[in-house]
Amino acid sequence: MEKDMESLKEKFHKKIASIKDREELQRIRNEYIGRKGIVAQMLKNITLLSSEEKPRVGELLNRIKRDFQKAIAEKDREFLTEKPVEEKIDITIPGKDFMLGTIHPIELILKATEDIFLGMGFCIVDGPEVELDYYNFEALNIPKDHPARDDQDSFYITPDILLRTQTSPMQVRIMENQPPPVRIISAGKCYRRDSIDNTHTPMFHQIEGLAVDKDISMADLKGVIIEFCKQIFGKDRITRFRPGYFPFVEPGVEVDVSCGLCKGKGCQSCGYSGWLEIMGAGMVHPHVLEMAGYNAQKYTGFAFGMGAERIAMLKYGINDIRLFFENDLRFLTQFK
Ligand code: DAH
Repeated sequence: MEKDMESLKEKFHKKIASIKDREELQRIRNEYIGRKGIVAQMLKNITLLSSEEKPRVGELLNRIKRDFQKAIAEKDREFLTEKPVEEKIDITIPGKDFMLGTIHPIELILKATEDIFLGMGFCIVDGPEVELDYYNFEALNIPKDHPARDDQDSFYITPDILLRTQTSPMQVRIMENQPPPVRIISAGKCYRRDSIDNTHTPMFHQIEGLAVDKDISMADLKGVIIEFCKQIFGKDRITRFRPGYFPFVEPGVEVDVSCGLCKGKGCQSCGYSGWLEIMGAGMVHPHVLEMAGYNAQKYTGFAFGMGAERIAMLKYGINDIRLFFENDLRFLTQFK
């Protein structure tokens, strides 16, 4: 019997040494040390032995069983720690692309405009988008019953507070806060209850300008505006001034530039007039100066206001204002 045991051990270890996968290992475990395996069978047969031999053979068989268990566990661990396929780096794969953002066309216009006016000695100021009715209308010569309010359907928060409909209230806020001379530019968002179409959105941007000092005249206004138009649209563009009405200026003007497409001859994009309207302007109304605390006998000034979207549309040849706010990257990435 002891001989049988030796050859059993030998056979087992040979088999273990040559197996390739865990399935085979499982099969061998069942064959040798399973419930109905060879070792279990031999332990059963102990009953046939004499009472002196029983304990010794029993002890031997148990030792063999432990030896088999250990060998199987070791083999199992070998399979578990098998090394993964060696890592390879493919240096020919193209690198990951990352998108660089572009500046929004409205922001480009605001910055370009600010730069031009900084060059002419103006400073940049910021104002609130949630504004008092007093600054948005009242102090600009537009009292409660004034028909000019009808042109600017407003978002009211309370009867005295609204989302500003224009950047002009900054004229008053600045004059209340500092003595003349002033030369400021103030750009930002404005809001009106307009229905959306290709030239209207309920939120848009305006750029306001104000200069007040001794001896400021209409000639100063014209000089500054003409210079701005040349710098933003190009040297070949002509500027014209027509009478226009705004309650807070007297006299008031509307400013046009010659159409860049037809060079003033008249085409579809300028409505066959040869001109494109770009802003309102005028000499600050004495009553507005007085309400802000300035001496209108001593000081005069000019003011102007324009829509940034309109300037961008004319400069870049865009025919629908909605494009600015739809966030379509195919549109936005064209402006660098
Ligand atoms: N705020 C005016 C508007 O929204 C534009 C304007 C016109 C501003 C004349 C001015 C100005 O400063 O003098 O229609």
